[in-house]
Amino acid sequence: MSELFIGLMSGTSLDGVDAVLADFGAPQPRLLAHHHRPFEIAIRHELLMLNQPSHDELRIAALAANNLARDYAVCVQALLDAANLSNDAVAAIGAHGQTVRHRPDIGYTIQLMNGALLAELTGIDVVCDFRSRDIAAAGHGAPLAPAFHQAAFASRDVHRVIVNIGGIANVTDLPTNDTVSGFDCGPGNLLLDAWAQQHLHQPFDRDGAWASSGRVLPDLLKKLLTHEFFRRVPPKSAGRETFNLEWLEPLLPKNTEPADVQATLLALTAGTIADAVEMFCHGACEVYLCGGGARNTALAKLLTEQMKDRKVAATDTLGIAAEHVEALAFAWLARRRLRGEPGNLPAVTGARGARVLGAVYQK
Ligand SMILES: Nc1ncnc2c1ncn2[C@@H]1O[C@H](COP(=O)(O)OP(=O)(O)O)[C@@H](O)[C@H]1O
Ligand SMILES: [Mg+2]
Repeated sequence: MSELFIGLMSGTSLDGVDAVLADFGAPQPRLLAHHHRPFEIAIRHELLMLNQPSHDELRIAALAANNLARDYAVCVQALLDAANLSNDAVAAIGAHGQTVRHRPDIGYTIQLMNGALLAELTGIDVVCDFRSRDIAAAGHGAPLAPAFHQAAFASRDVHRVIVNIGGIANVTDLPTNDTVSGFDCGPGNLLLDAWAQQHLHQPFDRDGAWASSGRVLPDLLKKLLTHEFFRRVPPKSAGRETFNLEWLEPLLPKNTEPADVQATLLALTAGTIADAVEMFCHGACEVYLCGGGARNTALAKLLTEQMKDRKVAATDTLGIAAEHVEALAFAWLARRRLRGEPGNLPAVTGARGARVLGAVYQK
């Protein structure tokens, strides 16, 4: 059987689709091609709107799921072209879809993406809806990447931590004794992006340059840290319903400089990540950053300062570029699905037990 798998990830940042084609024939996956496709503004807006209740949302969601499948299919073709392969060389696609609601507390999560249409458009088996089964088994359905982080990055000699900085940040603790833990620790790029979009009219604050031009507002930072999410103990997971501008805005003092707010959001993001590592990853020596937030140089610098007793670097150092890790995780999870192997770690998600994750649409 082919060991070539495609992973397609579009996360809470709503920046677009990260796509990878990898060969899992060797212990360390070998990347054959990658592609990033930014969302068109209209699609991004529609997906963002679908995070909130609205009139006629079932129809809008169904059409958005079709649009997303078409976007995903374009990514698949770009990967095949780049690697000079045809679709029948690929065993399966692991497609995350777009989270528009995440409510494990009341028993559901929704990742939009029409898997049937993607199978039809690509002629490749599609695995999707990875999170529902874990929630059905009383888990949070998130984070799911820790099992892959373990497979790709764990070391017998060094206690490592992987911090994925997507829209939400999540931490995977990889002690040398194999007892993996992981959880969402708070905002990643979500608040930084939202504030930059509102004030700079740009998708994100490149390299955290704008945040670096402002001053941290200590009183505001203190208020933000009182969010009940930071007091919860793992397992825990967060989404756009947890951290957003509707939560932030009433907490802002009058007449603040927008750049100072951005500086404060950067401090909040770095501080809550560093606190999570400090509190739940005792004895970790090395911290590796992945996700787009790893490319925010101001954020990476702050994290390095705040965790000065540990080595801090991007996962690139371990052989996988920061922006490819999560997409690779879903390629790996698709492979687990086809092999009938569990994809969740019950200690991470809180599920009753290990479960085979994902629904399959055959080509
Ligand atoms: N050079 C950069 N400077 C600052 N932020 C960056 C940079 N590159 C990427 N990002 C951030 O990474 C985000 C995308 O990260 P990603 O891992 O795709 O998150 P998600 O999984 O939530 O989609 C962007 O929205 C942006 O906030
Ligand atoms: Mg993304």
